[in-house]
Amino acid sequence: MATEKSEVQMDLPDNLPEEERALLERIHAGELIEEMSDLTPRYRAVLEKTLTIAAQGEVTVLTWAHTGYDKAPDLGAKIAISASIQDEVGHAHQQGMLLERFGVSMQEKAFNEDPLRYISFPIMEFPVRSYIEFVVAQSLLDRSGRYTTWDIELHCSFAPYRRALKKVNFEEAFHFRHGAYWTEYYWNHSEETRQAVQDAIDWIFPWGIQWYGRPDNMKSMNDQITYQVRKWSNDTMRGKWLQNACKWLNRLKGAKFPAYFDEETSTWRINDDHPVPMNANNETHEWNREVVGWDDMIRYWKSGGPMRPSAYERLQREEWGELLW
Ligand SMILES: [Fe+2]
Ligand SMILES: [Fe+2]
Repeated sequence: MATEKSEVQMDLPDNLPEEERALLERIHAGELIEEMSDLTPRYRAVLEKTLTIAAQGEVTVLTWAHTGYDKAPDLGAKIAISASIQDEVGHAHQQGMLLERFGVSMQEKAFNEDPLRYISFPIMEFPVRSYIEFVVAQSLLDRSGRYTTWDIELHCSFAPYRRALKKVNFEEAFHFRHGAYWTEYYWNHSEETRQAVQDAIDWIFPWGIQWYGRPDNMKSMNDQITYQVRKWSNDTMRGKWLQNACKWLNRLKGAKFPAYFDEETSTWRINDDHPVPMNANNETHEWNREVVGWDDMIRYWKSGGPMRPSAYERLQREEWGELLW
């Protein structure tokens, strides 16, 4: 019987076709899959979905970062933002090229997608209000994004996807280190810039907490984990981000953020009174500091922030690049 010979120690549906089961056994034995011809329908579907979400997400960083460009105080800062935009174009391109192997046109996904249907985070649809906000966002959210892509580079069972992310992850690490360097600089520069850093932390940090979506116990069976497209669950990534981000923020003496160090477990924890999840207010550019259900939050994410759909419409008219220099 198929179920008895399976070595796969996972909660798999009984009616899983034999070809899926056979592929899962190869994957769980540690084999890396190289050839498109080896992809089973279900494995192919989860890879395609993961790549689509990732590639579109990278595209939506462009329009957000571009709003920061106008706020950059000097040429060095403008170059830093332009370089980061170039990197993000590359990340979309790397993953988009891989997506083409699945018969999906990245051109279609980036330029012909309905702007109301872009997959993104609402934070990417709020204009950047200052260069300080930009670098704080880099320090915290490129750090979040990098855990997602790093997991895939380290653990993905589809070898071409691992390779595609090597350069991506190097650059994401560069982004968050760049953000951290300048955040520290502004924290120590003057009373005024320190307050601006604090304001930016108040706005950005909660996006990091919610970045990875639903808690594990609210997710149904996850093909990404089953097929080892990724290894780290949402809660695992959130935990890694929280430890890493808080350890760094703690270096900014006196900075406030909604987490505390629990001496007993030697881990950072989110404050009990911090609402998770919560939604932001598109008019006031602030958090509605009250807990909503995860379904409500996902609904809000899908409807998006205040620059949706205008930012993507402009991207599709290819105007944004001309405005860079
Ligand atoms: Fe990126
Ligand atoms: Fe980045």
